[in-house]
Amino acid sequence: MPQLLHIDSSAEMNTSVSRALTGLFAETWRDLGEGHTVVRRDLHRDPLPHLPDAGLHYAARLRLDGETPDAAAEALQAELIAEVAASDVVVIGAPMYNWSLPSTLKAWIDYIHVLGTTVPFDTPERPFAGKPVVIVSSRGNTYAPGTPGEGTDHTVPPLQQVLGVSLGMSVEVVVAELTLAHRLAPLTALSGQAEESRSAAEKSVRTLAAGLGTRS
Ligand SMILES: Cc1cc2nc3c(=O)[nH]c(=O)nc-3n(C[C@H](O)[C@H](O)[C@H](O)COP(=O)(O)O)c2cc1C
Repeated sequence: MPQLLHIDSSAEMNTSVSRALTGLFAETWRDLGEGHTVVRRDLHRDPLPHLPDAGLHYAARLRLDGETPDAAAEALQAELIAEVAASDVVVIGAPMYNWSLPSTLKAWIDYIHVLGTTVPFDTPERPFAGKPVVIVSSRGNTYAPGTPGEGTDHTVPPLQQVLGVSLGMSVEVVVAELTLAHRLAPLTALSGQAEESRSAAEKSVRTLAAGLGTRS
């Protein structure tokens, strides 16, 4: 039974573009057949506590004397890691907040990126290697090549680093830009570009969900 882990982090509950796109991904996934299940984690509705103890960054065997995280925090970390492990594909809504990640999503990353557990350290295990993850990033402005914002997107690159380079997951990126073109006067002239970006993103999430949900 192919299982999707559907994660959102936008603080906007009604008009969020990333929520609409991850929702479309999940809908396309479900439409592939009854066996296509979806597990939901909404990091804004049900935020995780910030990582309470640095010891959680290391597998228990790698911790130093005195690094003894709270049992409840360890249990939460184990639950979050198991949720990814149990999923065949992960889709993550990652809006740009202040050129970076929503803190709710960063907290999730801090729990699941663990030396010696999900990242090879003293042993070669890399349990998430090859697992597809689709990052859906919405942003008010544009950061395309040749624009003033070029090179200042600190939302997608850290996710590619952690999930792709470090955890070894197979990362796909879908971007919807200029989502504030309807709201901010200086961007109004770019409304057409915003619509094109949104349509292209919708097409990409449908194609990715159908492709990843039917691969053998
Ligand atoms: C707290 C906050 C910070 C933001 N910072 C940026 C930013 O640095 N650059 C940008 O282009 N848009 C920024 N925006 C606009 C959002 O990226 C944009 O509204 C996007 O569509 C949010 O995703 P959502 O539609 O899924 O909620 C910010 C919005 C919020 C609420």
